[in-house]
Amino acid sequence: MTTYPNTADVPLETAVPCALASLESILRTEELRRRPQRPAEYEKETSALAALVRVLADSPGTILQTLADKVLEILQSHSAGLSLLTKDEKRFYWAAVAGVWKPHLGGSTPWDFGPCSDVLDHNAPMLFSHFERRYPYFWTAIPPAVECLLVPFYVNGKAVGTVWAIMHDGSREFDGEDLRLLESMGHFASAAYQAVESIESLRLQISAREEAELHLRELADTLEAQVQARTEQLRLSEAFLAEAQHLSHTGSFSWRVDTHDITWSKELYRIYELDPSIPVTLELIRSRVHPEDLASFDDAVESVSSRAHHYEYERRLKMPDQSVKYIHVVAHGTRDEGGRLEYVGAIQDVTERRRSEQALDKARSELARMARVTSLGALTASIAHEVNQPLLGIVTNASTCLRMLAADPPNIEGARETARFLISDGHRASDVIKRLRSLFSKSSPAMELLDLSEATQEVVTLCLNELQRNRVAVRTICAEDLPPVRGDRVQLQQVILNLLLNATEAMRGIDERPRQVLVRTYLDEDENVRLTVQDTGVGLEPGEIENLFAAFYTTKSDGMGIGLSISRSIIERHHGRIWASPNSRGPGATFSVAIPRAAVAPADSSALRLHAAVTAGAFAENV
Ligand SMILES: Nc1ncnc2c1ncn2[C@@H]1O[C@H](COP(=O)(O)OP(=O)(O)OP(=O)(O)O)[C@@H](O)[C@H]1O
Ligand SMILES: [Mg+2]
Repeated sequence: MTTYPNTADVPLETAVPCALASLESILRTEELRRRPQRPAEYEKETSALAALVRVLADSPGTILQTLADKVLEILQSHSAGLSLLTKDEKRFYWAAVAGVWKPHLGGSTPWDFGPCSDVLDHNAPMLFSHFERRYPYFWTAIPPAVECLLVPFYVNGKAVGTVWAIMHDGSREFDGEDLRLLESMGHFASAAYQAVESIESLRLQISAREEAELHLRELADTLEAQVQARTEQLRLSEAFLAEAQHLSHTGSFSWRVDTHDITWSKELYRIYELDPSIPVTLELIRSRVHPEDLASFDDAVESVSSRAHHYEYERRLKMPDQSVKYIHVVAHGTRDEGGRLEYVGAIQDVTERRRSEQALDKARSELARMARVTSLGALTASIAHEVNQPLLGIVTNASTCLRMLAADPPNIEGARETARFLISDGHRASDVIKRLRSLFSKSSPAMELLDLSEATQEVVTLCLNELQRNRVAVRTICAEDLPPVRGDRVQLQQVILNLLLNATEAMRGIDERPRQVLVRTYLDEDENVRLTVQDTGVGLEPGEIENLFAAFYTTKSDGMGIGLSISRSIIERHHGRIWASPNSRGPGATFSVAIPRAAVAPADSSALRLHAAVTAGAFAENV
């Protein structure tokens, strides 16, 4: 076989423009048909096709190159190959090349100007002679193609390329048998190529599927890991929640009103002392409610079942061992898109807190009693005077009575009259003792409807002697028809007493002006029953006012500093307010107490009438 120079370093695509030969001038197809034809070489053809079949079975990827090799072999050409239209259909790509032009493997020619496009245009085999004369880019393809025979290459019935064979010298011309062999092999190659392509696409599909499966597996693994992590987080937060609920004695619940579905947290079962396996029902909850709270429980259930509420209340439970628990309930109701009502809430066991509050209350009232006894101690002179008055009357009347009976004749009528005075003095004395006893007593607070004016008068009367001793003039202006307040008489009187004693003490060193106290009761503009105690004492330092009511705050060498703090806790328990302010006109301070009026028949505040002023000594008008 003729050897040719190496052409690998000459790029095929390098086009050299010049005057081009016409297609007809380079075509030899007609002539080929007239050329004498050698006998058909079936044997060669069969063995070539068999080789192609083998390749197809063993390594389908090399089918195109095997085709080029076999064409080269059985046509005894110098070069052979296969050109395929690229996917973008812009060029013919030399997919397989054998023989002299093998170095051009992978090269390409333009889709619209070249032998391949001519063959595809005519959809028929063609024989070219020196096609570089028309297609100048072949000039660089050395050695030149003296003759080139091309047949179309079909895939799925569509011509997508050519199979070709080239003679680079005139040693042999192609004949009809070459054309038959080339067409036969071209057909077979087309079928084989399609098979390869579908195998390839199958392989691609399989690998894509494998890849997708792998991806899916990875995804599933990640997901599983995430689920595990989230489960762990959830478990931890559930554990935290349970621990927090346990520590704070707080359980949570949800309640679907329409379906009666109630869900409880573990802690709630513990608070209610119920077995967590028991389904919760309203009836079950009700069975734990303290009998005295049942009515309010039923009312609450009824009102929250009808519309979404935010509710908060405290209730008692009665446990099977008869012990009482206090629970604080907070819940919030919402409706879902379907309008169904659901409550989510928390229940806290506040029994311990209530118990310590009760203990604190007890200690506080004991302290208050002690303070009261102490302050009453300061009133011994006054008290002695109070008790003495009726006793003196009794003694005087008893002697008068005796005198009248001893007269001759005995003045029976006068004695009877005097005995009546005696009895009424006795009652007076016993009333005084009774009042005093209640002030000293340890009895627990008793709420009743009371007239603050009356309670005030009593305290002022009790203090009169002490006030006098301290040269303090006291004036009371008490509204007569003041609406009642609901309260504990002894406790409220203790407050009045504290304020009076403080006022007296605040004026102890005052000699340059009259020592005066004005005690008033009236209905204020907010419909609260108001008590004010106004003095002309030392007054209040700015910045001191906040401290006055703090426990153990005192400026007195003999003071305990608890009078005002006790007074405040008493007034707050009566839902009222106590405060101090400097007098706007003149020296001294005013302490005020406001307590809500009890809900009974209204009283006209304008009908405030001046109660008989109880005065001791002179009283200046500016007070
Ligand atoms: N009318 C007032 N004028 C000026 N300061 C007052 C008046 N009332 C109270 N204070 C001041 O408030 C302080 C606290 O009063 P509080 O009654 O609580 O305690 P105390 O009178 O000092 O002692 P005690 O516990 O024996 O009553 C007093 O020490 C005094 O400084
Ligand atoms: Mg005091």
